[in-house]
Amino acid sequence: MKKLKGKVAAVTGAASGLGRSMALAFAAEGMDIALADVDEVNLTAVADEVQEKGVRAITLKVDVSQAAQVDAFRDQTIARLGAVHVVCNNAGVAPLGPLWESSVGDWEWILGVNLWGVIHGVRAFAPALIAQNEGHIVNTASVAGLISPPGMGAYNVTKHAVVALSETLYHDLRERKSKVGVSVLCPAYVPTGIADSERSRPKHLAASEKSRETQAKEAMVRKAVKSGKISAAEVAQAVVKAVKADRFYILTHEGITPAIRARMEDILKARAPRNPLAL
Ligand SMILES: NC(=O)c1ccc[n+]([C@@H]2O[C@H](COP(=O)([O-])OP(=O)(O)OC[C@H]3O[C@@H](n4cnc5c(N)ncnc54)[C@H](O)[C@@H]3O)[C@@H](O)[C@H]2O)c1
Repeated sequence: MKKLKGKVAAVTGAASGLGRSMALAFAAEGMDIALADVDEVNLTAVADEVQEKGVRAITLKVDVSQAAQVDAFRDQTIARLGAVHVVCNNAGVAPLGPLWESSVGDWEWILGVNLWGVIHGVRAFAPALIAQNEGHIVNTASVAGLISPPGMGAYNVTKHAVVALSETLYHDLRERKSKVGVSVLCPAYVPTGIADSERSRPKHLAASEKSRETQAKEAMVRKAVKSGKISAAEVAQAVVKAVKADRFYILTHEGITPAIRARMEDILKARAPRNPLAL
């Protein structure tokens, strides 16, 4: 999509971090923005920031793991802003720990937000974009969708799934000669609220008992997220550029390339996978 001015973007997980920055970056391009999140307080603050850029903003409390709520988000976006063109399926959470420590609650929570959230976003919004033969879907995965770092198995599973979903969506649209574009966003560490995602865990999806190793892993990831060198605003700029240039893979952190290459080589040479954090 070369021209964004006057068009409409819908962003999930818009109350914080990458979602907030994407909303502001698309607003700076002159787009009206529909903002969805479970965090209504911060969502309202982001809507104010968006409106300061001279465009319209609407907010809706949406739990992306719930099909009906994502359908309502699409309906509200089209009813109140007149159309939808760019859809950022971005909301995500990140409980950590080795696979055998992840509780059923951990799995249901992370699959619900990180994977079902993207599934619902595509299912709800893609038909409208296809019908108007114009638009772009941006799914937030992670470098953890291209490599499999230890200690975050459930997260890796959801992000690899989002990459597979996005690649297939791209093929499905190209086969039908649709002009709707797709991108998959794969950043490494960016300073956002992701290390504190427990704040949005529903009470009925209980956390597992955390071992000392998991607590150490959480402390390590928290530090890595906090000291991420590329800001959420810079990642959002990369997203805007990719939408304009119709680029599929958005890899924001060059330093991670050797780990991606090592994984691909290990597969092609039928070797056991090397630890991407030890390369
Ligand atoms: N920050 C990083 O280092 C990093 C790296 C790679 C990928 N990502 C991905 O970026 C995306 C955005 O995360 P972030 O880093 O901005 O973190 P963040 O915590 O700052 O923002 C995530 C937002 O998602 C919202 N959210 C949580 N559960 C939700 C639900 N069920 N329905 C709707 N909204 C919900 C939260 O309230 C929050 O506003 C996630 O998918 C994350 O996995 C982040």
